[in-house]
Amino acid sequence: MKFGRYAATLASLSLFASTLAAPLVQKAPLPQTKEQKEAERQKQIERAKNKYFHEPGGTHQLGHYDARYFHGVVSDEERTDTQLTMIRAYLDFFRENGLDTWLAHGTLLGWWWNGKRLPWDWDMDTQVSGATLARLGEKHNQTMTEYVSTDGVTKRKFLLDVNPWIWERERGDGANIIDARWIDTQNGLFIDITGLSETHPDTKPGVWVCKNYHRYNTADLYPMRETVFEGVVAKVPYAYDKILVQEYKEKALVVTDFEGHSWNMNSKEWIKTQAQIDKEKKEAEEKVKKEAAAAEKKKQDAERKELEKGKKRQESQKKYDDDQQKKKVEAEQKRSKQEEGEGQD
Ligand SMILES: *[C@@H]1O[C@H](CO)[C@@H](O)[C@H](O)[C@H]1NC(C)=O
Repeated sequence: MKFGRYAATLASLSLFASTLAAPLVQKAPLPQTKEQKEAERQKQIERAKNKYFHEPGGTHQLGHYDARYFHGVVSDEERTDTQLTMIRAYLDFFRENGLDTWLAHGTLLGWWWNGKRLPWDWDMDTQVSGATLARLGEKHNQTMTEYVSTDGVTKRKFLLDVNPWIWERERGDGANIIDARWIDTQNGLFIDITGLSETHPDTKPGVWVCKNYHRYNTADLYPMRETVFEGVVAKVPYAYDKILVQEYKEKALVVTDFEGHSWNMNSKEWIKTQAQIDKEKKEAEEKVKKEAAAAEKKKQDAERKELEKGKKRQESQKKYDDDQQKKKVEAEQKRSKQEEGEGQD
């Protein structure tokens, strides 16, 4: 989930006060020379060129789809359904192929609460070891996995896409911190997969990092604990609580109101609050109104254009008629003149 991705940068902000779209803490920009600005621009262009995974947009919502399979923002229901199917298919595939993987970031936090995803989450996160990542790149890249739910109702295809930059374990320009994705080819939603590598075994042995600077000690990761997530066998790091507190602070394990949901002690579920339901309803209504207004305007514009076209057509018809009339009169006059001339003979 998004705040997982940015946790390092957001660590100083209060997690619960920040919205997902919260701007990062900004220092006053230093005045830049023309050359510096140009260099910065070039860097951005290079970065965009280097980026392997593409999303349809940079906003909170659009950043959670793969551009190739995106056909529009999905409903809450479709997202929920997709994420459940997606993680089940993913965990099955990894287990069947003897690939080690575990839950991470917001997905791990969801598991901590009730063994389920956080209902407001837009993407899911897992991690793998560097060795597994290498195997994914060598053997399983571009695998298409068909998934049929046990009741036979849900059928989906998932693409495992491995970033060619996996061989580079340093962050670099930051454009390729996601190592692989498990993508729903129906709507573009995905699971972000990141690999952990011991980048400095000589100076920092036993320290595992991802390209987004999350750090873990071997003893906090292993031995992994086998558990159940969304009804499927899954693994979590040994010191999951320590990892969660490091990433999200104590609050994430205590506060029971978050993102328009509140924790129900009895059912052990995150339930959408009435305020959130009302807010979403209002937003949906406003969207419909806006779309209707836009459609109406388009219709009126089209009608006006048609009217103008009709007027123009009439005008040009009139001009043509006038011209014809004039020509006729002129021809008439010419003929009568000729006749006059002939008559004088
Ligand atoms: C995975 O496959 C895609 C598509 O063929 C390719 O562009 C990419 O470089 C591959 N990744 C790796 C790690 O080889």
